[in-house]
Amino acid sequence: MIVGVLGGGQLGRMLALAGYPLGLQFRIYDVVPEAPAEHVAEFLQGDFDDESRLEEFSRGLTVATYEFENVPVRAAEFVASRVTLHPAPRALAVCQDRLAEKTLAAQLVIPSAKFEAVESASDLAAAAARIGFPCMLKTRRLGYDGKGQAVLREPVEVAAAWQGIQAAPAIVEQFVAFEREVSLIAVRSASGECAFYPLVENMHRGGILRETRAPAPGLEPELQALAESHAARVLEELQYVGTLAIEFFERGGELLLNEMAPRVHNSGHWTIEGAATSQFENHIRAILGWPLGPTAAVGRSHMFNIIGAAPNTPALLAVPGAHVHLYGKSPRPGRKLGHVTLWNELDEHDRRIEAVRSLIANA
Ligand SMILES: Nc1ncnc2c1ncn2[C@@H]1O[C@H](COP(=O)(O)OP(=O)(O)O)[C@@H](O)[C@H]1O
Ligand SMILES: [Mg+2]
Repeated sequence: MIVGVLGGGQLGRMLALAGYPLGLQFRIYDVVPEAPAEHVAEFLQGDFDDESRLEEFSRGLTVATYEFENVPVRAAEFVASRVTLHPAPRALAVCQDRLAEKTLAAQLVIPSAKFEAVESASDLAAAAARIGFPCMLKTRRLGYDGKGQAVLREPVEVAAAWQGIQAAPAIVEQFVAFEREVSLIAVRSASGECAFYPLVENMHRGGILRETRAPAPGLEPELQALAESHAARVLEELQYVGTLAIEFFERGGELLLNEMAPRVHNSGHWTIEGAATSQFENHIRAILGWPLGPTAAVGRSHMFNIIGAAPNTPALLAVPGAHVHLYGKSPRPGRKLGHVTLWNELDEHDRRIEAVRSLIANA
């Protein structure tokens, strides 16, 4: 059985690595030649508008999926016309456009920060005045790691912010004074079975995820149930198959949906060591219609992204419970090169968190 993956980044690489023990083979498609997944699977390089190359990719696949939410919907539709593709193109279309995403949340009565669509500098000025300052401008499409965003503190900043995002269609939303950021990794199988991982707490700096604590400290069953009920409505509405990540802002016992990713997610990397079944394996099980594996956390995990500079691997490995994952990428400022999951059954966990943190020089 061959699983096709559109996108050859680290997520594709980890999907393939999770699938080999199940006897699966992988075929990866990416636009760029040097992709992290290239070393671990059959690799096809091609543009997303090259239908003959996509045809070649689709041939003989059992199922196809994607690990990158900016795969053009037309490319996804083309592949879906040749072979089963999960999640379906509609999920991709919704999750790659912040306006569609937040509109869907509103339809499903999932709270999020107040927002408006903006198409011009004058739209932005008017919408920001209605929403109030501070607020946040975000391009509808193609933003990641805080790119394509600006915080507006006062009206005079409108013109520069609009130029800063190059006048791209955008949304402006209320700035949320959240207590913390949490995310939920949810999985729905082709058979309709659903599973949810425990909520995790995410720490960002400069718009980039730096660390994830799993499960989120002090996680109450009520909060977990709330997150699951929000996610279940999205899964049901989209007839979703695969892994879905939802980022929330936690504020006063409420969860405000920030954004969704129709794929495995950086805040779920801890599941490789720290959960009964990893998000990668469960994604594969889901798209094949196989039974999902249990999602309970085993012990406590703390995931650190390795950003910009290569780490001292042996020094990290000297910390008991530290697991190093490197993606085969060359160092560049702000680039995610790998991650470390510190997994422990509780004893000495906090001291070891400090030991790993001090060994990671985030550029
Ligand atoms: N409305 C908001 N209020 C406060 N902080 C925000 C808001 N939107 C985003 N942020 C901060 O910026 C980070 C990145 O924004 P996000 O919308 O998740 O974009 P992306 O992860 O695609 O770059 C969030 O994780 C959060 O820390
Ligand atoms: Mg985000």
